[in-house]
Amino acid sequence: MALILNVQFQTLSHARQHPNVIQRVLPCFLLVLVLAAPSLAADKVEISVDASKTGATINRNLFGQFAEHLGHGIYDGIWVGPDSKIPNTRGIRNDVVAALKALKVPNVRWPGGCFADGYHWRDGIGPHRTVRLNPDWGGVIEPNTFGTHEFMDFIDQIGSHAYVSVNLGSGTVHEAADWLEYMTAGQATTLAKERATNGHPAPYKVAMLGIGNESWDCGGNMSPDYYTSQMKDYSHFVRNYNPAQEAVPGQENKEEMMKVAVGPGGGEPRFVDWTDTVMKAYQNHSWSWDINGLSMHNYTVDWQHKYASTGFGETEYARVLKSTLEMDGLVNKYSAIMDKYDPQKKVALIVDEWGSWYAPLPGSNPGFLVQQNSLRDAVLAALNLNIFARHADRVRGANIAQMINVLQSMILTDKEKMVLTPTYYVFKMYVPFQDATFVPVKFDAGTYKHDDVSLPRVDAIAAKDASGKLWLEITNVDADQPADIELDVSGANASSAPGQTLTAPKVDSINTFEAPKTVVPKPISGKVENGKLTLTVEPKSVTVISIE
Ligand code: AHR
Repeated sequence: MALILNVQFQTLSHARQHPNVIQRVLPCFLLVLVLAAPSLAADKVEISVDASKTGATINRNLFGQFAEHLGHGIYDGIWVGPDSKIPNTRGIRNDVVAALKALKVPNVRWPGGCFADGYHWRDGIGPHRTVRLNPDWGGVIEPNTFGTHEFMDFIDQIGSHAYVSVNLGSGTVHEAADWLEYMTAGQATTLAKERATNGHPAPYKVAMLGIGNESWDCGGNMSPDYYTSQMKDYSHFVRNYNPAQEAVPGQENKEEMMKVAVGPGGGEPRFVDWTDTVMKAYQNHSWSWDINGLSMHNYTVDWQHKYASTGFGETEYARVLKSTLEMDGLVNKYSAIMDKYDPQKKVALIVDEWGSWYAPLPGSNPGFLVQQNSLRDAVLAALNLNIFARHADRVRGANIAQMINVLQSMILTDKEKMVLTPTYYVFKMYVPFQDATFVPVKFDAGTYKHDDVSLPRVDAIAAKDASGKLWLEITNVDADQPADIELDVSGANASSAPGQTLTAPKVDSINTFEAPKTVVPKPISGKVENGKLTLTVEPKSVTVISIE
């Protein structure tokens, strides 16, 4: 079944259907054409979807989250304590849990980030917690009231899986090995008994293990060779003992823990050497150690001059989105190195920190990385998720930074108040893409130009879910012009195309505690007539429809 989509100016498509209209509007139209010639020429976009050619599975782990002990990400955002007036279950906020459940969050990366390489797990278990400082993030008190058991309880409440980053920077292999035994041992070891005494007799599952974090900088400023040597030890000795997660010789156990090594962090030349060193070691690895993933971090940020997260105009909108598209080049670059040593793509590229990083909100603690989340972030999220989906054969995990109250978050809280961000709604709209099969989409994206910035005007991906239903996502990056979609569904026996679209009046529209519904999805429906589906998507919008 070949589905053809045409995206073009509404005026032009209407005129084509009614030739007499052309005679009446032609003089005005030509005038508009002359005045708007450069942008009009750039607006014509054509797209085609071929649902007969399917690609890789869009791994649900691409929609992972990241929750670090940073600012109000954990404390206040997730943890309020059992005695709080804020409704909670064993100290974990009920409103946040309910909101996150709807996202079907596949995994949560914890406890950091830079924090992970200073974290000592024993500080956060048992009746007496060790109070420390958090030198990475604001130098504030870290009470360690949210530790292993609280994290696992949270994961359980939201129906997700644990991605635990162990301390390779200031910890030891011994400490990390003990932590994994404490969490996962099913037999009555001393550590397993201690876990039971602390309230959890059954072994926990750890789906993913991060072997260090940014070990080239905050995780220890290591050389690639030094890190690789350390990583091998962690890979061998830090074992998961949960019987359900054991490796079964000759068989695939989908529950087996994935080990993720530290990979590159952006486009600096040094990361080519880093990636090369780790992957070369992987190619020659012995039976005694293995990795299943290589992490990559990449933020949309201008480190010299951070953009504001509120009160900006179309120029900043266009610049930030242009910059976020660099993700594609980085994925290509590091995938090519991985292909050299791992042509079978056994090692996944896990983009376990990505998202927008703006200037801290005025009045906030700069170490808490507090920023607002606008319609621009919704478009940015869609563009990145689409990049990951297009590379689904290699990119099989990603974690947006961060889940609550930090950087490009899903949720903002202030005491008892909670608001869902535009990015939250994008993740919700993309739920049908979790574990769906990628369907190639071809299109001439056209150009959206503003000031000195040019970028593709339209983006789109398609996928088939387990029931065979086809899903289509269309991002209209253009801040000013709607896009008319025309889809040939003659081979698909389609009768409707319901879905949701997310847009707002301004590029910097935000949701606030006082006005939480400024940027929320609304229903949209394509019209199906004579084997054609037509749909107009609004400027600066993210749209997901299903073809039914
Ligand atoms: O997400 C904030 C920080 O950014 C993380 O702790 C670190 O890994 C990265 O540099």
